[in-house]
Amino acid sequence: MDRIVIRGAKSLNGTIYIGGAKNAALPLLASCLLSEQTLTLSNLPHLVDVSSMAHLLAELGVSISMNGNAGGGGNMGRVFELTACGNIHTTAPYELVRKMRASILVLGPLLARYGVARVSLPGGCAIGTRPVDLHLKALAQMGAEIDLTDGYIEAKAPNGLKGAHIVFPTVTVGGTENLLMAAALADGKTIITNAAREPEVTDLAQCLVAMGAKIEGIGTDTLNIIGQRELHGADYSVVPDRIETGSYAVAAAVTDGDLTLKGTRLNLIESIAGILRQSGVSIVEVDDGIRVRRASEGISGVDVMTEPFPGFPTDMQAQMMVLMSVARGASMITETIFENRFMHVPELSRMGADINVHGSSAIIRGGVKLKGAQVMATDLRASVSLVLAALSADGETEINRVYHLDRGYERLEEKLAACGADIVRIKD
Ligand code: UD1
Repeated sequence: MDRIVIRGAKSLNGTIYIGGAKNAALPLLASCLLSEQTLTLSNLPHLVDVSSMAHLLAELGVSISMNGNAGGGGNMGRVFELTACGNIHTTAPYELVRKMRASILVLGPLLARYGVARVSLPGGCAIGTRPVDLHLKALAQMGAEIDLTDGYIEAKAPNGLKGAHIVFPTVTVGGTENLLMAAALADGKTIITNAAREPEVTDLAQCLVAMGAKIEGIGTDTLNIIGQRELHGADYSVVPDRIETGSYAVAAAVTDGDLTLKGTRLNLIESIAGILRQSGVSIVEVDDGIRVRRASEGISGVDVMTEPFPGFPTDMQAQMMVLMSVARGASMITETIFENRFMHVPELSRMGADINVHGSSAIIRGGVKLKGAQVMATDLRASVSLVLAALSADGETEINRVYHLDRGYERLEEKLAACGADIVRIKD
């Protein structure tokens, strides 16, 4: 398993290109199942999760051709042409789904277009912890018959899906996406109330519109979808990754650096930028991106609560905790989206961070100088928080199990090294 070794306390200066959003790319890839014509997606990030989704689609019988590096200007975004015509299988097997939870996103489009889908329950995730019950209930409301057998979701809609009024009791990004895709080909009108408003959901809705779907209320919490008999092909470019943007913004702040992040947009990270500015980080818009550096007064603690968009994203919580660990004063970070999302805390503590967790809140007493240590990555965002901590820390940090990073950060070491980080990957 690869390791990353970082010798920290070096300020980062330069330009980093932000790729297309992983969390937009995954549903966009799945949406190719809705049409027999070709969907061309550009600005796709080169990430393990994107390859896993492409692999799953290829197994289902989608023909995929790939072109590399079409983004130009330092952006390495890839272009995929995806065509779901001919003999499409409707079973997403365990071996592929277990690698990536977002594989559940093929359920809605398969069911809508073929009237049948068999999708393994997402890997390691029994219904009950990080469940998909809301996806299933909503599809059942649209007329799907759903059974759970041998670890598989067996869904049928022999007479097609019918429009329905779906009220999500909690905001679910994947649930909204699955339902949007299902409703695009359903018979009649679907209303989704309490829909997720994340930019990645909006990106999917806009791509579906480009494919001929009729959707109103895009970007709001109420989506009205008039089902169409069929969708057609389209060309669509993936929205920039706001979490990659936010992660590198924190990298600039914790290393007292000055980074220009290109290929991204300030309006995608308003809540992140708001909190960073409050803590003393300067963020200004520049041509095709943003410039981030520490303001002269230095960083001080701010309280943060994760919330669905437009609130502060849970996917930036771990990174923010690193910034708060080195900030002046105390702060509190409250996680409201996921139950068990403080796995980075013991690792950050090994590097000298002063963090106490009480239920869903963490109290961080800042002002510490982090110190290099051997640490272990536990999930994607926890991993990047360890990279950020290591960049700020005195001495050497060795991060183990970095395969998590490859799921969500393209060419991370290369991008950081080009800005002055002392970072190497050791392949075992
Ligand atoms: C997506 C993102 C993930 C992000 C999360 C929240 C992708 C590929 N992943 O995950 O990076 O952290 O949104 O912004 O886009 N829930 C249920 N039942 C369900 C579905 C969800 O109880 O059927 C709960 C979840 O356990 C969680 C909350 O709802 O507590 C939000 O989950 P959801 O928005 O669905 O997250 P994902 O789509 O899995």
